[in-house]
Amino acid sequence: MQPAATLRKQDTDARSASDMPAQTALRRQREHWLNIFRLIRSETETRAARLSSEDQVVQSMPDASPTKWHRAHVTWFFETFLLAPYARDYKIYDERFAFLFNSYYVAAGPRHDRPKRGLITRPSTEEVAAYRAHVDAAVIRLLEEADEATCDKIFPIVEIGLHHEQQHQELLVTDILHAFAQNPVCPVYDPDWTMPASRGGRDAFAELPAGVHSVGYAGEGFHFDNERPVHQVLLQPARIERHLVSNMLWLEFMADGGYTTPSLWLSDGWARVEAEGWAAPGYWRQRDGQWLSMTLAGEQPVDLAAPVCHVSYYEADAFARWAGKHLPTEMEWEVAAREGLIDDAFGLVWQWTRSAYAPYPAYRPVEGALGEYNGKFMINQMVLRGSSLATPKGHARATYRNFFYPQARWQFTGLRLVDYP
Ligand SMILES: [Fe+2]
Repeated sequence: MQPAATLRKQDTDARSASDMPAQTALRRQREHWLNIFRLIRSETETRAARLSSEDQVVQSMPDASPTKWHRAHVTWFFETFLLAPYARDYKIYDERFAFLFNSYYVAAGPRHDRPKRGLITRPSTEEVAAYRAHVDAAVIRLLEEADEATCDKIFPIVEIGLHHEQQHQELLVTDILHAFAQNPVCPVYDPDWTMPASRGGRDAFAELPAGVHSVGYAGEGFHFDNERPVHQVLLQPARIERHLVSNMLWLEFMADGGYTTPSLWLSDGWARVEAEGWAAPGYWRQRDGQWLSMTLAGEQPVDLAAPVCHVSYYEADAFARWAGKHLPTEMEWEVAAREGLIDDAFGLVWQWTRSAYAPYPAYRPVEGALGEYNGKFMINQMVLRGSSLATPKGHARATYRNFFYPQARWQFTGLRLVDYP
């Protein structure tokens, strides 16, 4: 499920060419971006290849998009932000696709209603594949032939386009899992899938270094604009849990009335419990006294040692209150990850923090349509840190800020706790 190489590794390789003669360095950079472009584009197709055409059309809720739409949308991104402005003589594949496959870029023109993406039976999956091939060929030609001045402009757009595609690779998986979870025959996405092993354990806490720390992305490599500016924060004395909260602990929370005790819940969270009948994490079902969960390998018994997954911010917050502890702030999480104080920071479940998704001090979105990427969503959402089993390898980092609405449960989301003296 993960590309063999990563954007970040290749970044380093490309940059090491900086002291070579200019033409050699440019050739190496072209090769780097051609390789990584092919690799990441093919990873999207690898993830989609497990699905039938019928699977790829379904939209199971407004927040989830069809696989076919993801494949086309990330392609539209390259066509709109890279090819149209920089590839001479490029012919737009189909003028109607901009309306269908623009997600939320107001500056890029009008767009189809998000909740109606599942109604787009045409273009077919075959036509979307042809669209991808058309755009791939044009991007490859541009990368091979652009002059040096153009390369300076297009390499960063290729780079953000590939990070964008990796984000959709994760959504492709979480969205089809949500669709499959609605199907009584419990379809299997990957029969060989298992939750990656966690370090496990409980009640092991690491001391967070209290005092002033720098947070935010300080390096030279790729990062999203929301990870900057670097700034200083003050951490209070605290202990952070080394381990992710497990299914075993979650069952204790449930057995102790976690989902039936209003005093454990935020008001908005309790309203969700009542309105949606939450009594267990998302995708859990009880049969003959056994808890089962819908996974990428179909319906499986809940693994007690595995980290709890598919819980909302509201549930994570209620669990923390029940445990007599707290969710960490995103700054506490970042410092803990950087200092190596926590296990399973990456690759299992995104971890809810109690930080609202807000701009860092003096943050400004980048200019132009791509400024809509992160900044305009900085309201009413909560920050998650780390990465999940569905995140492409090398995509996330300690400063990466993921964000979702507090009621969201269809991502691979879990938690760890902090405690204050
Ligand atoms: Fe997107």
